[in-house]
Amino acid sequence: PKFAVFASGSGSNFQAIHDAVKAGKLSGQAVLVVTDKPGAFVEERARIAGVETFAISPSTFSSKELYEKEILQKLVELEVEWIVLAGYMRLIGNVLLEAYPSRIINIHPSLLPSFPGKDAIGKAMVHGVKVTGVTVHYVDAGMDTGPILAQQVVEVVAGDREQTEERIHAVEHELYTKTLQQLWSR
Ligand code: GRF
Repeated sequence: PKFAVFASGSGSNFQAIHDAVKAGKLSGQAVLVVTDKPGAFVEERARIAGVETFAISPSTFSSKELYEKEILQKLVELEVEWIVLAGYMRLIGNVLLEAYPSRIINIHPSLLPSFPGKDAIGKAMVHGVKVTGVTVHYVDAGMDTGPILAQQVVEVVAGDREQTEERIHAVEHELYTKTLQQLWSR
């Protein structure tokens, strides 16, 4: 299917997904990268990958509804069928939820429902859990609350955030691709 990736930052998950498509491991077509942070590194990745980007700053709209309507117009224009969130640091509102029912997927760097929201890895380290992980889930109106599609455990490297983070990101890149492939080959 045709999909759009929404990202606010570095875009390493976008990169992994795009690489998987190129390698024939994921049957889909990334037709658009949407970012709410103009200038984010994901734009550069998309440019190199040859994927159109749509950078749109929410602060220039008077409501989330108008902001999302602007995005929706672009998605419809490009016949986007699925929305893949990859480090998109914003809740999805009604406009997109209603236009894409059960067609929006997110990845989160913890074993949900533990540590939802921002800095899940930091929160897990502070809590002192021995294992954390990665969750891929359907998106609903809540913060990291939708039905779970896949999870994978990652062992925490005690006292070493950097190494723990590296492990988590490596698992994210594999698990996201694998889960999307399962979802789209049903
Ligand atoms: C990932 O850890 C993702 O799970 C979280 O934000 C991070 C995005 O990283 N929601 P990247 O932009 O894909 O490199």
